[in-house]
Amino acid sequence: MQHVQTIWLTGASRGIGEALVKRFVAGGKQVAITSRNNEALVKVAQPFGNSGQVLCVPADVTDEQELMLAYTHVKEAMGVPDLVVANAGTHINMPASEITFEKCRQLFEINLHGAVATLLAPLPDMMERGSGHLAGVGSLSSYRGLPLAAAYGATKAGLNNFLQSLQFDVETYGISVTAINPGFIKTPLTDLNPYPMPMRISTERAAEYIWNGLAKQKAEIHFPFAFSWACKLLRVLPYPAYHYLVRTITGSKNRRG
Ligand SMILES: NC(=O)c1ccc[n+]([C@@H]2O[C@H](COP(=O)([O-])OP(=O)(O)OC[C@H]3O[C@@H](n4cnc5c(N)ncnc54)[C@H](OP(=O)(O)O)[C@@H]3O)[C@@H](O)[C@H]2O)c1
Repeated sequence: MQHVQTIWLTGASRGIGEALVKRFVAGGKQVAITSRNNEALVKVAQPFGNSGQVLCVPADVTDEQELMLAYTHVKEAMGVPDLVVANAGTHINMPASEITFEKCRQLFEINLHGAVATLLAPLPDMMERGSGHLAGVGSLSSYRGLPLAAAYGATKAGLNNFLQSLQFDVETYGISVTAINPGFIKTPLTDLNPYPMPMRISTERAAEYIWNGLAKQKAEIHFPFAFSWACKLLRVLPYPAYHYLVRTITGSKNRRG
């Protein structure tokens, strides 16, 4: 990834983020890592000792002030980062009997507002410098509505559209934008899912897909390929066919909860 030396990564304390830290450091990059839990961040950074390659900058991405302070800290320590990856996010399965506005708001604030705030923090500095790379972690579930995921899908669809639009506005400043859309990855988050997760892959494989796509400054990184291309095909089906298939595959028609 020649265009990048320094990276700010959120959601780095476990799961996909933790695997990305390892991949970035193995690739010789300097990484500032953010999540709410500093103790967990320190554990992630520990194997790299005093190399200075990993810097812990705890913050809650839903707290704008805290996030801006974290960005200032990153900038002071390593300069304006070459790449920012807004990865912090979460999921709450919400069957009809459990969906509430409060839970939806929680997902909107972390997955959408938090990601947007992360990506906008360095933007003025990147524009002034005339280079940079902004990436946000969406999901294949952003492509079309899925059972139990009304709020989650909305946050990831919103983030994808934000990134797609931003691309047009910032490219004249030498800034590239990437939407990262994973399928199922084995992490503490998906370990909680009560349904089968086809083609679930390891965080290490996910990090490799992401690394390769970022190196090419792709507009979208989607994986694993067989699953993501199937999702792309589902996206273009007419509603009756799409609804029939999703109901059949997920059994949603017979589920109440
Ligand atoms: N796993 C999958 O199958 C999958 C598929 C598609 C997309 N994704 C997306 O990939 C990203 C990472 O998911 P994951 O599976 O690795 O989840 P995870 O294992 O639960 O890790 C989530 C990370 O986000 C951080 N985080 C959560 N809320 C935060 C907040 N308010 N402020 C700062 N950091 C926060 C967590 O750290 P703290 O708790 O310490 O703050 C943690 O480091 C998410 O955006 C998720 O939606 C995952």
